[in-house]
Amino acid sequence: MFKYLEPPEVEEAKVSNVKIGEIEDMEKDSGKIIKFGNKPVIVVRKADGEYVAFAGVCTHLDCIVQYRNDLEQIYCACHNGRYDLNGRNVSGPPPAPLEKYGIAIKNNEVIVFVEKT
Ligand code: FES
Repeated sequence: MFKYLEPPEVEEAKVSNVKIGEIEDMEKDSGKIIKFGNKPVIVVRKADGEYVAFAGVCTHLDCIVQYRNDLEQIYCACHNGRYDLNGRNVSGPPPAPLEKYGIAIKNNEVIVFVEKT
């Protein structure tokens, strides 16, 4: 009777890597949110061209974060939370760092993957 309340089993939940495009598709010093299965992930291409990726959900109250190139930080607009480009919470209320995702470059393609801990 209450079956409809259970979350549907989605294939997306098992995603372990996502191709986000070619290296030059993202400008340096920019960021974007991608869907990693059903989770938002923030991908940042740093000013030096290196890619990094983190969980896109703020560790404070779960707002979606964004990249601010004027600060060169990941920023949460909800309560002015800030993270550096290693995912560390450096300012504002976030109590913990952002979970890190791996980046691999294969045949000029950028792939985000879950890092094994
Ligand atoms: S939810 Fe991100 S700082 Fe509060």
